[in-house]
Amino acid sequence: IPTHIYADAKDASRAVAREIADLIREKQGAGKPCVLGLATGSSPKTVYAELIRIHREEGLSFRNVVTFNLDEYYPMEPDSLQSYVRFMKEQLFDHVDIPEGNYNIPDGTVRVDKVADFCRAYEARIESYGGLDFQLLGIGGNGHIGFNEPGSLINSHTRLMMLDHSTRAAASMDFGSLARTPRKAITMGVASILAAKRVVLLAWGERKAPVIRGAVEGTVTEHNPASYLQTHPNALFVIDEAAASELT
Ligand code: F6R
Repeated sequence: IPTHIYADAKDASRAVAREIADLIREKQGAGKPCVLGLATGSSPKTVYAELIRIHREEGLSFRNVVTFNLDEYYPMEPDSLQSYVRFMKEQLFDHVDIPEGNYNIPDGTVRVDKVADFCRAYEARIESYGGLDFQLLGIGGNGHIGFNEPGSLINSHTRLMMLDHSTRAAASMDFGSLARTPRKAITMGVASILAAKRVVLLAWGERKAPVIRGAVEGTVTEHNPASYLQTHPNALFVIDEAAASELT
């Protein structure tokens, strides 16, 4: 997987935001929507901050941007403190001119017997726009992309996933305790991610170094779902020096 290593997350995020801004403008020029797959968590925050700066200082418009988030906890109310709806509004959507109907986030309030229908409709909606032009990813310490935990298959689609203990432990900081942390999430599948025309994965810090090494240099394996990106023709890892420290 092509890997670009930067001194720090800020430098790296500037480069990624620039690529996204260029893509939005290119699609604008062609009179087309720009379809972005987005991630939450700490890694993309600096990319979103830079996109907001480009919107304010360079007049980049998001009117033609359509977004699909990777995942949402289940169950989850959109106005909860920990919801990814709230996260995306706070980190990006409330600060740019994206039309309200243009962003899509898996619905954490769907009745359990309707989840499968919801997941099919989510994928169909992505396809109705001609698929994702660009997918932004973080990576879990266990190699998860979206909430495709180890064991997820390369042909998996959007579905309800049981979260790994390590994922819940990391999230428990936000929820106050492990007991209050959801056990499940709705996530786009590995196949949904691999169908994007371009995939850029972000990783910052030493904590991610072992899993980055596995994903980039190891075999393609369900034990490290990010390794599936080795099969994508146009994927890029954008990482800082600490996350690169175990690459040979
Ligand atoms: C979030 C998501 C997750 C995170 C991953 C890394 O939408 O899909 O895969 O990207 O857990 O999280 P951070 O960036 O907080 O280390």
